[in-house]
Amino acid sequence: MVVVGIIPFFTFALGTWQLKRLKWKIGLIDELEEKLQLAPLTLPGKINLSVIPEFVYRRVVLKGKWDRDHAMILMPRVREGVHGVNIVMPLVRENGSTVLVDRGFVSKEELGSGAFLQEDGVVEVIGMLRTSQKRNSFTPANQPEDGKWYWTDVEAMANYAGGEKAGVQPVFVEQIFEGHAGEANTLIERGIPVGRPPTIDLRNSHLSYVITWYALSGVTALMFARLLVNKRRNAGKRMPRFK
Ligand SMILES: *[C@@H]1O[C@H](CO)[C@@H](O)[C@H](O)[C@H]1NC(C)=O
Ligand SMILES: *[C@@H]1O[C@H](CO)[C@@H](O)[C@H](O)[C@H]1NC(C)=O
Repeated sequence: MVVVGIIPFFTFALGTWQLKRLKWKIGLIDELEEKLQLAPLTLPGKINLSVIPEFVYRRVVLKGKWDRDHAMILMPRVREGVHGVNIVMPLVRENGSTVLVDRGFVSKEELGSGAFLQEDGVVEVIGMLRTSQKRNSFTPANQPEDGKWYWTDVEAMANYAGGEKAGVQPVFVEQIFEGHAGEANTLIERGIPVGRPPTIDLRNSHLSYVITWYALSGVTALMFARLLVNKRRNAGKRMPRFK
């Protein structure tokens, strides 16, 4: 009885805690969205890695040449229902360290053409700073030796691209594409990577937890109330026997 009586309070407390988390998450997303609106930063020649977390989601502008020999394929990726991969390439910056750039999506059909390997010369890239993704229990381990990557492990990718001795820093930038759908389709048809839209892709599932916990609290409170009523009724029935 005591245990059943505690459950509604316990689940109510969990719901309230999730509500707090929801408010925090909305605040965080707002903050990151504001950050994303700021003018692009030019990264210094040598990037201080300890300050990267502060600059996640900041727009950056980079100039350099692609290291096509160390192209990495992030798979599988889906863009608007089309299956394909994302192409990560080290960008060798003029007078600066080499950083990793996720250039964006290439469809499975066009991957074989290797069009993304043709570009030569100096390019300018606008992207946003990111860090390694969290790997979940369903994500396979990366296989750098086969050029197969399933999640962005920035340290491992930087090592694959040559590591510190080759002037590669574990800095990861996702290239931004802000053109319209027609331009994106043209790029996809030609097998040229299409970057990501400049949006914050944080998961926010707290609202569903809030609803679940509060609903559970309500249901268990009703159950407890019915138990109480039944007990009292039974007690009432038994009463005469003790007279
Ligand atoms: C990197 O940034 C941190 C924090 O701002 C600072 O303490 C540190 O001295 C910097 N390191 C270098 C090499 O500039
Ligand atoms: C890189 O350094 C060279 C020589 O110091 C200089 O001429 C050139 O303008 C620099 N490039 C950039 C992008 O700063």
